[in-house]
Amino acid sequence: MSGQLPMDAGEHAPSFGRSYARVGPRMDARGAAAHRRRLVAAAHGAVVEIGAGYGATFPFYPPAVSGVLALEPDPTLRALAVAAAASAPAPITVRNGFAEALPAADASVDVVVSSLVLCSVAEPSAVLAEAIRVLKPGGRLLFYEHVRSAHRVLAAAEDLITPLWSRLAGGCHPNRDTAASIVEAGLAVEALERFGFAVLPGNPPLAHVLGVAVKA
Ligand SMILES: C[S@@+](CC[C@H](N)C(=O)[O-])C[C@H]1O[C@@H](n2cnc3c(N)ncnc32)[C@H](O)[C@@H]1O
Repeated sequence: MSGQLPMDAGEHAPSFGRSYARVGPRMDARGAAAHRRRLVAAAHGAVVEIGAGYGATFPFYPPAVSGVLALEPDPTLRALAVAAAASAPAPITVRNGFAEALPAADASVDVVVSSLVLCSVAEPSAVLAEAIRVLKPGGRLLFYEHVRSAHRVLAAAEDLITPLWSRLAGGCHPNRDTAASIVEAGLAVEALERFGFAVLPGNPPLAHVLGVAVKA
């Protein structure tokens, strides 16, 4: 882990968790749930899910998963995640915690899951280094993220709105090239899909990636 830990997400933006708890299920109904199901289909063994939110991925963990440690710093979302874990098909423990300091030993985890989180952390490189630390050799990062547009004009618009958007939306950066960051961190991307997804009615489609990266 490098750098300073973020403050508790609840102290920074007390309303973000409540807003996301309302908006997230609407995204799920429009297709995000299907993306999440595909995200975790290959999960197995010991799993760490970072920034688990209200537990939207929990219903989709397959039987090959022996246990999930789900970290969520926002207190509102964490309480919802605890409730979601109770009816999940895999054993899930929800804890307060940041992706920059995972409570797991080096090379002890089969799979790290990141669903719409690498847009929101302060330094994706620090989070990816921490994921690599806890993954076993051959372990996998499963990621579902919205990312910087491939269109120059749209990407420039994302750059423009990022400072304000980030303050309103829990630190979210719409202009991050997360797939490139994953490669730069030293993981090998073995599957990557890129697609547009309009998260709410009337919103423009945002570029998303869904993929698998492996630690050598
Ligand atoms: C857009 S929400 C996504 C939540 C959930 N993963 C999902 O797919 O619905 C971003 C999440 O990242 C969490 N988060 C933000 N910064 C974090 C950090 N440094 N470490 C762990 N989680 C963080 C937020 O509290 C929030 O739950």
